Amino acid sequence: GSLRMFVDELPQIPTLLGHSNGAVSPKPGSLTIGMYQKKWKFHRSLPPTTVFAFGTSQLTATVPGPTIEAIKGVPTSVTWQNYLPQTHILPWDASIPTAIATRGGVPTVVHLHGGVHESQYDGHALAWFTSGFRETGSSWSTSTYTYPNVQHSGNLWYHDHAIGLTRVNLLAGLVGAYVIRDPTLDASLNLPSGPEFDRTLMIFDRSFSRDGSLYMNFTGIAPSIHPQWQPEYFGHAIVVNGKAWPFMRVQRRKYRFRIINAANARYFQLSLSNGLSFTQVGSDSSYLPAPVQMSKILMAPSEIADVVIDFSTSTTPEIVMGNDAAYPFPTGNPVDNLNSKVMKFIITPGSPAIPDTSTIPASLVSYKASTTDPATTTRYIVLYEYTTPSGSSTHLYINGKRFEDPVTETPKSGSTEIWEVINLTNDNHPLHIHLATFTAIQVRTLTNQAQFTNCMTQNNDAIACNVASYLSPPQAGAVPANEMTWKNVVKMTPGTQTTVVVKFNLVDTNSPYPFVATTGPGYVYHCHILDHEDNAMIRPLQLV
Ligand code: C2O
Ligand code: CU
Repeated sequence: GSLRMFVDELPQIPTLLGHSNGAVSPKPGSLTIGMYQKKWKFHRSLPPTTVFAFGTSQLTATVPGPTIEAIKGVPTSVTWQNYLPQTHILPWDASIPTAIATRGGVPTVVHLHGGVHESQYDGHALAWFTSGFRETGSSWSTSTYTYPNVQHSGNLWYHDHAIGLTRVNLLAGLVGAYVIRDPTLDASLNLPSGPEFDRTLMIFDRSFSRDGSLYMNFTGIAPSIHPQWQPEYFGHAIVVNGKAWPFMRVQRRKYRFRIINAANARYFQLSLSNGLSFTQVGSDSSYLPAPVQMSKILMAPSEIADVVIDFSTSTTPEIVMGNDAAYPFPTGNPVDNLNSKVMKFIITPGSPAIPDTSTIPASLVSYKASTTDPATTTRYIVLYEYTTPSGSSTHLYINGKRFEDPVTETPKSGSTEIWEVINLTNDNHPLHIHLATFTAIQVRTLTNQAQFTNCMTQNNDAIACNVASYLSPPQAGAVPANEMTWKNVVKMTPGTQTTVVVKFNLVDTNSPYPFVATTGPGYVYHCHILDHEDNAMIRPLQLV
């Protein structure tokens, strides 16, 4: 049978301050966060589930992990530690490209998604380490990472990034939120604030066995090649802040929600049941120039929507947040009774206790436009499937290259580039570029895609295949208003070329930080459908 919805209260995830000396005159902070195996109750009727969780101790570790609160311009150092056992709680596949031939233990490494920082602190996929640093990957150099927080204030998250294991390490629970606040800006915007009215909602899907354990189909799509790997993980239960289909009591007033899609592969298209809408104020990475009224918000894995919901305008005492995104997106299965529901808000009668003085200003933050700096380089990034000689398509590559092939993307530190991203598959792919901040500016449909794909699979070269002759005029309105700002992940529509302006190591214009990230192991860019990333839609990126 299935679990009853809306019976567990939304947990308030603990926060850790990434600075010291208080918010008035903050000084750099340091934290020690470990990864622990423990039991977690995802639902009151489900036996405890064995998970991997982030926390300052095994006792206090949570799924998702504690939210790290940083202040713009004030560095946060985190020492990441691995206390995980000898064996993984989920099946992983030794046949996919992975560095992990360890003598035991679970390799992990932590990436701050959306962070602008030196590459030795990026959580490179080959900088993994096992319990007690007994074994380390080829790019490992330090256990303490420093995040300068020099970028625009905004919403980030942290998660495991070990090569070939990312999908199972996140499924096990290794995710957490990270907020960079700008106290002066936040005070001037006067959006709903404080721990009660400014909340993070981290959403993912999971399936469970009757005994409470995490369920993952471990018969691979092509068992003779990949005994366990499947192209996308989809779970039947929708989990918010560690509870399946929770409810939240709210006052009849405005709330700010920083909604993070932390699913492996599921897209969410969120809406509110009684016609209530979201007012979107920010994306991953940054604010929007002005609030955008949204009745539905489409979010790929790893995308973040920063929204205000005004419950004072609700015509009903209860509001269900729903989802109608097909899986895989966009042409897969339609949602069903389970995955079409996310959580419920219940308005407390007679509220608010104290009048709501927060506002939604008519304009928010105008950053320097993405097109201000001339682009120095144009790159073609082509996503297509590699078909094995046996005919079973089992790898997803970028530009037909493996992760371990020599680096081809070597932007200059501080430069702006144009990336023309061409998606020749039937799935939407969320492209995430480490260190970079970017904006989609144009989408063009590909004509005669079969012929172009045929050329690409033989030549792996978009220019040689004369890509320009396959492009239709730009689609009108293809980049929605709620995505017209700096982001760190962009959805790539099937059968299109998306033009993206990419800025490398964008720091706030007022930042004195001399940031030149040209040393260390470098960065990566990849599809954020984790099952794709692991096999192996991921490529190196090195600044010069
Ligand atoms: Cu959110 Cu490279 O990852
Ligand atoms: Cu993908």
